[in-house]
Amino acid sequence: MPKAMDDIKKILKGMLSRQTYAHSISTYKTALGLAERFGVSDKKVGLAAILHDCAKSMPYDELIYNVEKYKISVDKLELKTESLLHAPVGSKLASVVFGITDPQILNAIRYHTTAAPEMSDVAKIIYVADFIELARGHKGVADARKVAEKDIDRAMLFILRDKIPRLVKKEVLIHPRSIKALNWFLEKEKKK
Ligand SMILES: [Fe+2]
Ligand SMILES: [Fe+2]
Repeated sequence: MPKAMDDIKKILKGMLSRQTYAHSISTYKTALGLAERFGVSDKKVGLAAILHDCAKSMPYDELIYNVEKYKISVDKLELKTESLLHAPVGSKLASVVFGITDPQILNAIRYHTTAAPEMSDVAKIIYVADFIELARGHKGVADARKVAEKDIDRAMLFILRDKIPRLVKKEVLIHPRSIKALNWFLEKEKKK
């Protein structure tokens, strides 16, 4: 059984930096708005959104410790990239600490950093809400918000097209799953 929302918030406060806790609450509110707009389960979306960054404030060695402890399936690139590793670890913690068993919620947390082809509506909403939540102010967010008012797949495509070139400019490694997601949403868009 998942824990009650008040208990989740209390535990999260102890796990996260103030900034990440505030971001989680903001992502939660934004995601619920998207869930209503697109007719997706607000219960699933709410749990996935509030918990998506539950491992974000964990130091790298602790992330690695959890990967080994729970035998979490991660690839080489995720293993050496702290900013990617909090997603698979967070998904596992959502299960063992917060009692989440629903695969849609766990997958939404698992893929909230890289995105993936064939994401569920819950996962798409978490990915988009994480990017457009109200505290975010970087370039592209205002336009992404407008796109997300109408079409969640188009919002996914918009954000992947915004994020990937920025990562290229930063000269960091790009996870191949993000490229696969970009291609998948591009093909979906062309079929519309
Ligand atoms: Fe995250
Ligand atoms: Fe986040």
